Order: sequence, then C-alpha cells, then structure tokens
Amino acid sequence: MVAINADRLWGRIEALSRFTDPAAPWTRRSFDHQFSCGRAWLEQEFQSAGLTVSMDAGGNLLGRLPGTGSGACPLVSGSHSDTVPSGGRFDGALGLLAALEAAQSIQEQKISLSHPLEVVDFLAEEPSEFGLSCIGSRSWAGLLTASDLERRSPSHLTLAAAIDSVGGSAERLVSPLRGHGSVAAYVELHIEQGLVLAARNAQIGVVSSIVGIRRFEVTIEGRADHAGTTPMALRRDALVGAAHFIRAVDDLARARPGDHPYLVATVGKLSLLPNAINAVPGSVSMILEIRSTDPEAMTHFEGALWKQTEGELKPRGLRLVISPLSQTLPTICSPHIQDTIEQAAAAAGTRSTRLPSGAGHDAVFVARLAPVGMIFVPCKEGRSHVPEEWAEPPDCAKGAQILAETLVLLDQTLPV
Ligand code: HGY
Ligand code: MN
Ligand code: MN
Repeated sequence: MVAINADRLWGRIEALSRFTDPAAPWTRRSFDHQFSCGRAWLEQEFQSAGLTVSMDAGGNLLGRLPGTGSGACPLVSGSHSDTVPSGGRFDGALGLLAALEAAQSIQEQKISLSHPLEVVDFLAEEPSEFGLSCIGSRSWAGLLTASDLERRSPSHLTLAAAIDSVGGSAERLVSPLRGHGSVAAYVELHIEQGLVLAARNAQIGVVSSIVGIRRFEVTIEGRADHAGTTPMALRRDALVGAAHFIRAVDDLARARPGDHPYLVATVGKLSLLPNAINAVPGSVSMILEIRSTDPEAMTHFEGALWKQTEGELKPRGLRLVISPLSQTLPTICSPHIQDTIEQAAAAAGTRSTRLPSGAGHDAVFVARLAPVGMIFVPCKEGRSHVPEEWAEPPDCAKGAQILAETLVLLDQTLPV
C-alpha cells in the first residue's frame, strides 16, 4: 500500500481553506481574488511536490509526473479549488489535495508508474457567475460553445475574458483540449455530500454513476402595481405565482414512489422586480435544477410541473416562461475503475459500498473522453455547500490512501 502523509494532507486542507472571503467563510469563487491567491499557492505546492506545473487553455492548473513507459497517456486525478458562496473546506479541496498527496507519496516512495500521472485543479466546477459549472472540464471535452464563451457575468465580463484572466486561452477552446484516449483513467476523491455511507456503515463509497442535471431559467410574468391602491382581485402578483411554482416543484418531487429512479428538484436562486416593499411584484426570475440518474424521469417530471403550474397561474393572469440553461446526461463510472477502487479499499481493510452520486462533478465531462471513477468519504451529517461542512482527518487520510493505491493498481492494469 502507498503510505500517504496524513499530516501534510491535513495541513494543506487547512492552508487552502485560508484563501477565503473573510466575511463569508468559506468562499473562493472561481475567477475572484481569493481564487487566484489559492491558485498561486497551489502552484507552489505542486512544484514543492516535484510536479511539473502548467496551465492549459481551459484555465485548468496541472501538475505532472513523468511515467517510465513510452506512452504519454496519463492517469489523472484531482478536483476543483473553487467553492460555492459560503461553502465548505472539503468540497473539491479534498480531492485536489489528496491527488497531490498521492502523487508526492508515490514519488517519495519511488513507486515507478509506467503512465505519467497528472494532478488537475479544474476551473470553475461550481456554477459560476456566468451561469455555467464545470467550465474547465467542459473545455477538455470541447463542450464550451461560442455562445458559452460570450456569456457575461453581472459585471459584464465575458467568460472568454475570464478564462484568459486566469491564464487560459479562450480562443483555443473551439475544439476539445483532450481527445478520446488521451487520458488513461480519471479518478477523483470527494466528500459524499450525503448520508448513504453512514446509513450503510461504510467508510468508502465506490461511485457507480453520477446524476444528470438540467437547469432552467423560469420567469413568472405578472404586472407591477401600487401595493396600497390595487385591489386584491385585480392583482397579477408574480411572486404569488412563484410561490405556487416552487410548491409544485417540491410536492411533485416528494410524491414520487420510492422505487422510481432517484430524482431531486430545487429552486435555489430567485430575483424579483421591482423588489420594492410597497409594489406588487411584476416579474420573478428563478433557476430550477432537476437531477436524476434517469433522463426519462426528468422529462416526465418537467411535463407534470409545467402542466400543473400553468393551471395555477392562468386564473391569476400570470405567464410562465421557461428557458433551458444547461443539461448533462447521467454518467456511468467505469466498471474496471469501480472494481479497482473496491480492491484498494479491501486492501486497506475498509468497508466500501457502491452508490450513485447526487452531486455533479467534473468527472461527468472527463467521461466524454476517458474512463472515470470516484471515491467518496463521509462528511459530517452528510452536509455540504455550507460552512458546517466537515470531514474527519482519518477519513480524509483513508480516502487519499485508497486513491493512491487505486492509481498504482490502474497503472498496472491499464495499457500504457
Ligand atoms: O452542484 C453540485 O452537485 C456540485 O457540488 N458542484
Ligand atoms: Mn460542490
Ligand atoms: Mn465538488
């Protein structure tokens, strides 16, 4: 087994977490100042670990260890250093720093790999200010369109300019940065962000599949009016319509029979106009997100939701406008990588279980060009995307050790 340095890993997790907006720990939004400071620190850590550092056109930070074989097709591991606003210290950071620890330990213990080994910090895995997530991993698969690159942030910066600002080169993103077969395997360690491991008394999760995610901008159009003089019967209050919509999302998602495919739905972002305490809301804009392991289930859910909502809005003189924002298909993890993770977990004497991921990950896009696998470790009360997010040091170390061992086993079983 590869012996990893648990203290060094934990020290790096704590160090990276210090790059945060001090007013809203832990916040390190892609493209912002804290993110760039975190990147500069990561570059130094990659170098001190003996990796050759580079930045690709998609704004992904890479550290590379050469392999002993003739092939250039690397094993890749990593995650993301950006966070959601007021997020946690482990989502992304653990997988990235565990990959660094694995690479450094493999090198220190003179374990020679025939494949090169790359550690990657994918740019903007979390939904960014441009309304898009997984920007760096999408660029590997050539899935950033010209219109994506023209998306503008609230401060009117284009995504292309933002990618250039972190060292990428947006003009080169018209084709995939990594073609099919250019990566031997991608393995990511991540906190589970859920409660299945605890429920099954398992220490390690072997991810079987990753949900597909569909995101929509939903607008309810009514009419702004004076809040004092407009009789209730004459109002077209868009916020009341939004309340009906949000309730329908929750009711329909909860009402699904237990044996149906996993499906969750959320309205996590909302804005209204004119947003004045003495004006009837005239319009509401929301972001709806639906996730499932089954595309059919999402399509069926959408149909039922639009139908129920329109029935409730019409009598109130309200209009429902739906604009699709993005969608990803459910992703199956490589059976060979799943088996290898399970083998490494058993060799480490840990109880593992297979489970789908309800969270989206960069692996969804890397899967377009290479076999992928993910390893989960438990996090406190299954909570994530909140400052209370926590993972125990021994669980982090165990996850990193199994990641390192999985990479060594894949090096032996995958063609160079
Ligand atoms: O939203 C997600 O599922 C991931 O944490 N970015
Ligand atoms: Mn996340
Ligand atoms: Mn993540």
